[in-house]
Amino acid sequence: MGETALMSEVLELKDVSVVREGRALVDQVSWSVKEGERWVILGPNGAGKTTLLNVASSYLFPSKGTATVLGEQLGKVDVFELRPRIGMAGMAMADKLPKGQTVLQTVLTAAYGMTAGWQEDYEDIDEQRARAFLDRLGMSDYLDRKFGTLSEGERKRTLIARALMTDPELLLLDEPAAGLDLGGREDLVRRLGRLARDPIAPSMIMVTHHVEEIAPGFTHVLMIRQGKVLAAGPLELELTSRNLSLCFGLPLVVEQRGDRWTAQGLPLG
Ligand SMILES: Nc1ncnc2c1ncn2[C@@H]1O[C@H](COP(=O)(O)OP(=O)(O)O)[C@@H](O)[C@H]1O
Ligand SMILES: [Mg+2]
Repeated sequence: MGETALMSEVLELKDVSVVREGRALVDQVSWSVKEGERWVILGPNGAGKTTLLNVASSYLFPSKGTATVLGEQLGKVDVFELRPRIGMAGMAMADKLPKGQTVLQTVLTAAYGMTAGWQEDYEDIDEQRARAFLDRLGMSDYLDRKFGTLSEGERKRTLIARALMTDPELLLLDEPAAGLDLGGREDLVRRLGRLARDPIAPSMIMVTHHVEEIAPGFTHVLMIRQGKVLAAGPLELELTSRNLSLCFGLPLVVEQRGDRWTAQGLPLG
């Protein structure tokens, strides 16, 4: 492979396994994500989706195989230089953030790779950026609200704005729509769709259990079951009833309606 081909790899996993207590949570996964692609990771509870995102975010090293993130191989790179290039929005982050901070502060502190602190002299430009990202996520009316008082949906939108703050080259979203009501889900799907179709937005990888949460603009799907890759490729090719049924272990019918997806179990009898 030539230099230029390597440059366009956002993520390259080769035979990656993550083994804990003798069990492979991620099992010989080979997967590559190229610049500009927007991937969905589908799979049942416990399939290893979050573990895979933790490798992609450089917080977890493979037990076997090699993981190359934004051109840097884990184990051979200073992760403290790599991590600011990756935006991660998952609920694990929410627990680490001070509940008493305002929404604006919560997003602003990301610019400095910190989870707390307001004494620092923030640049005006950072504050403008934070306000712009919050506006994009529909959070302009909440700038002065305490993070700890937000609803789940508001908290998730704040975390995504926060993840965008460092201008990441790769954006990782772990079940961003989980726990939202129908209106909240549709609002988030619309906003993620706008982001996914923005040519200057970062490469994106989003974990979900529900095909209904796949926003227009997402291009590829990785399906995993028990740590193993079941299917990987363009949504139109791989998000089939057959693959989805194998993935979740029951007969399912998947349909594309316009630019959205739905799935349901086969009726009995
Ligand atoms: N640190 C750990 N040690 C042992 N088992 C773990 C650890 N973290 C996660 N697991 C297990 O690994 C499996 C995959 O977890 P996870 O990646 O969180 O799945 P998913 O996000 O797809 O629901 C689960 O069975 C989970 O219980
Ligand atoms: Mg998970």
